[in-house]
Amino acid sequence: MSTNNGSERGGWMRVTLIAGNWKMNKSRREALAFAQVVPSLLPDTGTSEVLICPPYTMLYELQPLLAAAGIKLGGQDVFWGDNGAYTGEISASMLLDTGCTYVIIGHSERRQVMGERDALINKKMHKACQEKLIPILCIGETLEQRKDGKAEKVVAQQLEQALQGLSSQQMDNLVLAYEPVWAIGTGVNASGQDAQDMCRFIREQLKQLYGSQLAAAIRILYGGSVKEDNIKEFLQQQDIDGALIGGASLDAAVFANIVRLGENV
Ligand code: PGA
Repeated sequence: MSTNNGSERGGWMRVTLIAGNWKMNKSRREALAFAQVVPSLLPDTGTSEVLICPPYTMLYELQPLLAAAGIKLGGQDVFWGDNGAYTGEISASMLLDTGCTYVIIGHSERRQVMGERDALINKKMHKACQEKLIPILCIGETLEQRKDGKAEKVVAQQLEQALQGLSSQQMDNLVLAYEPVWAIGTGVNASGQDAQDMCRFIREQLKQLYGSQLAAAIRILYGGSVKEDNIKEFLQQQDIDGALIGGASLDAAVFANIVRLGENV
């Protein structure tokens, strides 16, 4: 599996990113079984970038196995400090040490279950950018906010606050993930058009904040109940450059099939 090229969207080359977020799932045995079988299931000459974000306990051991298959490794979160008395946290340098190149920041489960606020997410964004870990910044509205017609306002605020104080140079590699909270783990995905509309809106916001060049270069993923039968619909959209996948990334055959279906869309 090679990672290169990219698809042209709106005149810009943005390499498709298919990212698996395992969340708090898989024993060591299950994680190793996945890594052993997935290389043979991925397309030989794929053009997408493929990423797995396993639990911390598996990062080190999975790295060589995934790297041999051309799969990148990412953390599911990062703390803003360098080191010290922060029980339970993980630092950027620890993630880099295990071979991570990406890190998920501001996932809705951390916002909703662990009570993370935009100010904390902003500090984590600064740390990741400083350490050259590529952040996948997650933003998205709840069902209530959408029903109240506040979805765009909420997403714009999350974006602006998470990126506050970051220069355009620091954001060279930034990846955004639009993940409507109501679609995560529910089996109810957004329609391709709704996801496209919000991703277009996010790109417009980026344009206002950082100019058109950067806005056109940044990859925006969709996340929320992505499966084999809807991946194409999302990747066909002009402003969607990949997917952040939870449940459907846990099974090697399903995940590899999503990667395959997403090729050259
Ligand atoms: P899901 O999770 O694919 O299981 O809906 C997506 C995510 O949380 O990133």
